[in-house]
Amino acid sequence: MRMFVSGRRVKKWQFIQLFATCFILSLMIFWGPIDNHIVSHMKSYSYRYLINSYDFVNNTLSVKRSWEGPHYPYLINHRDKCRAQNVLLLLFVKTAPENYNRRSAIRKTWGNEKYVQSQLNANIKTLFALGAPHPLQGEEVQRKLIWEDQTYGDLIQQDFIDSFYNLTLKLLLQFSWANTFCPHAKFLMTADDDIFIHMPNLVEYLQGLEQIGVQDFWVGRVHRGSPPVRDRSSKYYVSYEMYQWPAYPDYTAGAAYVISSDVAAKVYEASQTLNSSLYIDDVFMGLCANKMGIVPQHHVFFSGEGKAPYHPCIYEKMMTSHGHVQDLYDLWRNATDPTVKNVSRGFFGQIYCRLMKISLLCKLTYMDTYPCRAAFV
Ligand SMILES: *[C@@H]1O[C@H](CO)[C@@H](O)[C@H](O)[C@H]1NC(C)=O
Ligand SMILES: *[C@@H]1O[C@H](CO)[C@@H](O)[C@H](O)[C@H]1NC(C)=O
Ligand SMILES: *[C@@H]1O[C@H](CO)[C@@H](O)[C@H](O)[C@H]1NC(C)=O
Ligand SMILES: *[C@@H]1O[C@H](CO)[C@@H](O)[C@H](O)[C@H]1NC(C)=O
Ligand SMILES: *[C@@H]1O[C@H](CO)[C@@H](O)[C@H](O)[C@H]1NC(C)=O
Repeated sequence: MRMFVSGRRVKKWQFIQLFATCFILSLMIFWGPIDNHIVSHMKSYSYRYLINSYDFVNNTLSVKRSWEGPHYPYLINHRDKCRAQNVLLLLFVKTAPENYNRRSAIRKTWGNEKYVQSQLNANIKTLFALGAPHPLQGEEVQRKLIWEDQTYGDLIQQDFIDSFYNLTLKLLLQFSWANTFCPHAKFLMTADDDIFIHMPNLVEYLQGLEQIGVQDFWVGRVHRGSPPVRDRSSKYYVSYEMYQWPAYPDYTAGAAYVISSDVAAKVYEASQTLNSSLYIDDVFMGLCANKMGIVPQHHVFFSGEGKAPYHPCIYEKMMTSHGHVQDLYDLWRNATDPTVKNVSRGFFGQIYCRLMKISLLCKLTYMDTYPCRAAFV
């Protein structure tokens, strides 16, 4: 009797799978010739299951085992930066040679190791990852970088030209550095240099995860089944030779994401076996993770391109927010003020913040910020 029941279950499951596959195939045929923004998103979304679950993507992008990826020598490095044993977070900031002011602001705010050590009782290591200045920028820029590094000791630089189309090389730089010089850090984060990170909230979150010994962990703003941009005039244009499928595997926005050390090791391993010509670094990271069977989790208070609204009820929960340069000091001061959490204290505080968050995040017109759902967690 039992066998009969489970046999029927298997058949039902197989039937659903068969049905889903036929459905997707018919969509492919039906939508094949049409190509506009909405259709390509729906098309790619219906592909998502296939892309995330089967091997064909990583098979087409695999390079021969003997193939050696590009190796660029270090121009600036700090082999001993991560010597300490109990490093909670290795934090890479993707920066460009000319962004001195941004680095300077980050050193005084969320990237400040001493602050995290003394106020949050955790060990983080902040490193700025960059390539070489463009030859047209002249020697002066590199001389300034060397001076900057002598003062702060926190740059790592390899000898490739720092440009948008070399972002994947910068990703490889980060993962290979982490793998070689800091495999023991519990978590690895990579972030843009125009982002804001609420370090107290993030450190508390990560310490909780560390205690339960989390593995296979990858969190950020997840892009599910996004289609490659096939418009040649776009900055994100990707040719069919580079990537032939109508959807990318799920990945987290490159603005800021966090992974556990075991994921860092696996992604590094996969990065050695995939063709790294795809220059969109967060997509490439997603391909590597997909190859290792690692799935990203969405966190409502990680932002992608979007910016957090300025409000204490938001600061209480926020993790990252994108597009902060001028307002970084101001935001840091307000958001990390210890009294910021008082606002939601007590019964009325909680109701007030719930209503505030709904009014800030749940709007009828689209705004690129945290999703409406974030008002309810
Ligand atoms: C490709 O990705 C899937 C998961 O998405 C994984 O199970 C599989 O092992 C990968 N294939 C290869 C050849 O690594
Ligand atoms: C990327 O870096 C390499 C090595 O320096 C360089 O040859 C290439 O032109 C760079 N690509 C772009 C698009 O800048
Ligand atoms: C990687 O892909 C590019 C196309 O984007 C191709 O031109 C190149 O030959 C590939 N490299 C390897 C080693 O397969
Ligand atoms: C910070 O707080 C001050 C005083 O309450 C306010 O004027 C300012 O707009 C706030 N800035 C941000 C970024 O929250
Ligand atoms: C806010 O909270 C802090 C502790 O976090 C407490 O010392 C302070 O008295 C509170 N302030 C108000 C106005 O409730």
